[in-house]
Amino acid sequence: MSSPKSVAFFGATGGSTAPCLASCLKAGYTCTALVRNASKLTELLETSQSVSSDLISMHLTIIVGNVKDSASVTQTLFPESLNPTNPTGGNKSVDLIISGIGCYPVQKRWYSFPEQEDPTLCQDAISTILNALNSRPPLVKPGLVVVSTTGISKYGRDIPLLMVPLYRFLHTAHQDKIVMENLVIKAVTEDPAPIGSYAVVRASLLTVGPALGVDKIRWDIEDGKVAEKAIGYTISRADVGGFVFEKVVVPFESGKNERTGKVYSITY
Ligand SMILES: NC(=O)c1ccc[n+]([C@@H]2O[C@H](COP(=O)([O-])OP(=O)(O)OC[C@H]3O[C@@H](n4cnc5c(N)ncnc54)[C@H](OP(=O)(O)O)[C@@H]3O)[C@@H](O)[C@H]2O)c1
Repeated sequence: MSSPKSVAFFGATGGSTAPCLASCLKAGYTCTALVRNASKLTELLETSQSVSSDLISMHLTIIVGNVKDSASVTQTLFPESLNPTNPTGGNKSVDLIISGIGCYPVQKRWYSFPEQEDPTLCQDAISTILNALNSRPPLVKPGLVVVSTTGISKYGRDIPLLMVPLYRFLHTAHQDKIVMENLVIKAVTEDPAPIGSYAVVRASLLTVGPALGVDKIRWDIEDGKVAEKAIGYTISRADVGGFVFEKVVVPFESGKNERTGKVYSITY
């Protein structure tokens, strides 16, 4: 499709998602981002991602809210700029939706292992997004991209053997990701379907290192078997964002309504 694309971000202040948003802004795409703290996002974009304040004010609409709040989510998916004559009821949604929502384990009791701060956050986020689309069916069905994790393939072990003990500690977080992925994958087959296509991007263990570039990333698509070419240990959040931008956002064509999608694994 012809540029500029419109892209909605959830979890835009996150390490994997912010670099993708920055690339979209630099490419001149029209972006919306639902965040809990607007200044955290603008500071991060200007300092860590070198996005100018002019570019931010020209191309980004920030909605402050929680991803579990359907009104804020709807505003992010159906921005006023796309629905100028009917801001609260128009059915023009963004072309593409990207979610890198996540949380960390916290020590809830001194005598137990750390637990996920919000054990159903990712599935709740995706449910809210899909429900918002079902309640206000878009004229053109958007694509949906979610950042997920390796270690949850139904086809077998998709992580190195040495990582298996560590991933056992992440069971709760992984269960949430499995439910999230299943919601996304099921959504394209529903009738009517809230989305036209999806991309699930499963990252290996995330680091805070600099972006090495997409050429340094090993990636594979799970297609009836484990994504064997992308079994690895780590990848930096910056490269996850770069991968999503270059391999998913840039090639994305709005309106194709493929009713299918891809499950990627990515690692170094
Ligand atoms: N840790 C790993 O090794 C690993 C490996 C593979 C995949 N993953 C998954 O990959 C995804 C991206 O990870 P990441 O480390 O890049 O993310 P991150 O830096 O932890 O960012 C998470 C984002 O979610 C937002 N968020 C959390 N709860 C929210 C809520 N209720 N409403 C609105 N926003 C909310 C955060 O906003 P605030 O800035 O307001 O907190 C932040 O923008 C996550 O789902 C993560 O679990 C992690």
